[in-house]
Amino acid sequence: MRVVLASGNSGKLRELTTLLAPLGFELVAQSALGIHSPPETGTTFMENALIKARHAARSARLPALADDSGIEVAALGGRPGVYSARFAGESASDHDNLHKMLAELHDVPAEFRQARYHCVIVFVRGPEDPDPVFAHGTWEGQIALAPRGCGGFGYDPIFVPANLHRTAAEMTAAEKNAVSHRAHALLALVNELREMGIAS
Ligand code: IMP
Repeated sequence: MRVVLASGNSGKLRELTTLLAPLGFELVAQSALGIHSPPETGTTFMENALIKARHAARSARLPALADDSGIEVAALGGRPGVYSARFAGESASDHDNLHKMLAELHDVPAEFRQARYHCVIVFVRGPEDPDPVFAHGTWEGQIALAPRGCGGFGYDPIFVPANLHRTAAEMTAAEKNAVSHRAHALLALVNELREMGIAS
């Protein structure tokens, strides 16, 4: 089955393509079809994922997969959440966002720097699919005092997964793909799609 992948973020695209390889789907990135991401006007990960999936399915006339993800920081009252990509402003870079987070957490000691990545993935058979298939994954950790490592993307240089001393940006891609919020969400989605007979 040809499926359009509704993501414009190259870091996420790389991770999802690797994670989805065993599924028996022929994945086409929406960018390869000239499709741009719609505005993310939802206030939850589920709403935003569904907005992206329906838009890609409508534009490509194909079934679509979309994810929406972000990081929730306890000491910031759960921010930035769905606004993670825009934390330091509409066209903020990963570097701007993580430095804003470090600045906001400047006075917060190590024991209160808990953080959680979230990922919601949704599959729609078409733009009007009345019964989208959702899956959710999380990854627990804490925010480091300073950035370390150059792997991954986004907040990875300041995210230290629970029970690890390295940041997510110091893990190999294979290590991250085995335990990340995206990996957990995708595994749940694959199981659901197999149970429903949609994937092999
Ligand atoms: P989205 O593209 O709207 O889902 O925004 C996701 C944003 O959340 C990214 O731009 C990053 O800032 C952050 N994020 C999500 N997943 C990860 C990850 O695996 N590593 C680092 N940052 C992430």
